[in-house]
Amino acid sequence: MNDIITTACKFVTSSIGRKILVALTGACLLLFLVGHLAGNMTIYGGCAGCGGKSWIDYYAMGLHSMPAWLLWAIRLGLLAVFVIHVLLALVLKYENYNARTHYQKEGTLKATLSSRTMVITGVMILAFLLLHLWQLTLNGDPANCYEHVVLGFQNPVCSAAYIVAICCLFMHVRHGVQSVMQTLGLGTRKVRPLYNIVAVLFALVVCAGFISIPLAVLTGILH
Ligand code: HEM
Repeated sequence: MNDIITTACKFVTSSIGRKILVALTGACLLLFLVGHLAGNMTIYGGCAGCGGKSWIDYYAMGLHSMPAWLLWAIRLGLLAVFVIHVLLALVLKYENYNARTHYQKEGTLKATLSSRTMVITGVMILAFLLLHLWQLTLNGDPANCYEHVVLGFQNPVCSAAYIVAICCLFMHVRHGVQSVMQTLGLGTRKVRPLYNIVAVLFALVVCAGFISIPLAVLTGILH
């Protein structure tokens, strides 16, 4: 037992262990995004605008009809994954920065914009999440989820804030997907040159899906 604990501690305190944990927690958050997007897409089903209920209302009510312990276990699990991801990513960033020579610190030649802005886009996503949880989880009403989302996005400032946040999410996810695949060594050697394309496509599809909702409200498609 002691050996297992010692090995686990060594893993977490080693740089490679931390990198793997950031990748694994990042992969869990990416899965959450896919699930959340699939749930959100139900807003296009049903007919809330013509008197009926939208599928998103049934989806939100379904989520809230789960036993409270299960809902809270999922929420706390997600929060733990998020906190581990953020803290370890910041530690890695700090260690990498300290390990670089003065010359390298002056400018990063090969790094992409997405990779150089991971901390700033991460902070923007965190700020967005606080606003989002306040607006839709703390002050939401599952039975009238459609109405609540549409009313929120009819405010152009609210829609603009979401669109900016989702653009940050695009940059973060674009680099994140590539990084997860590289760290976990996914796929064969032949697949590796495709990492970048997979990452861009994944980020594009997910973020276009999220952005489509405020855009559909602003253009009157959802009303
Ligand atoms: C247009 C885009 C989005 C819409 C319309 C939307 C909609 C919603 C709604 C309606 C809920 C409340 C669900 C409920 O408890 O009834 C929710 C919760 C949540 N959303 Fe979003 N969302 C969007 C984008 C995002 C993004 C980009 C993220 C992550 C970066 C995110 C993360 C979350 C989280 C963590 C929760 C809390 C889940 C819980 O209550 O346990 N959402 N969202």
